[in-house]
Amino acid sequence: MTRQFDFAPVDRILDSHPSSELSTIAILQDIQEHYHYLPREVFPYVAKAIGVGEARLYGVATFYENFSLEPKGKYVIRCCDGTACHVRGSIPILERLRQELGLTDGKKTTDDLNFTVETVSCLGACGLAPAMTVNGTVYGAMTPDKASELLSELKAELAKGGERA
Ligand code: FES
Repeated sequence: MTRQFDFAPVDRILDSHPSSELSTIAILQDIQEHYHYLPREVFPYVAKAIGVGEARLYGVATFYENFSLEPKGKYVIRCCDGTACHVRGSIPILERLRQELGLTDGKKTTDDLNFTVETVSCLGACGLAPAMTVNGTVYGAMTPDKASELLSELKAELAKGGERA
């Protein structure tokens, strides 16, 4: 059975921007913020609504690395493995997070779409090394245990039905 895609959130986003190619990035950003990635279904829909080619829209989405065409978790955890963080022990933190979530280098998102764990080469917070971010919020001086505690807090928030910004 094919799941029907609900375009209502996309309609709301389209309504909040001028229908013009100039709005392309802002619209894609809002869609990604809502779904945590850019579902493929939205491309023909948005392309038609703002009068640009679908290929052009894909071009924008793949050019900017902040856009993702793959589903991501509600919580996107980015573990820094830049030099400053690496020498201060970022790998054991990454390994702990992956182990607790059943993730690997090849499987970055949990099946329930709650968590994504990625690595980045520098978060620009080297003074806080080893650092990681959760949905853009920086956490510094991490250890595997602190990362594990943070994960428990995030899971507790999910259980309560909330979601940390
Ligand atoms: S190397 Fe990790 S924040 Fe810069």
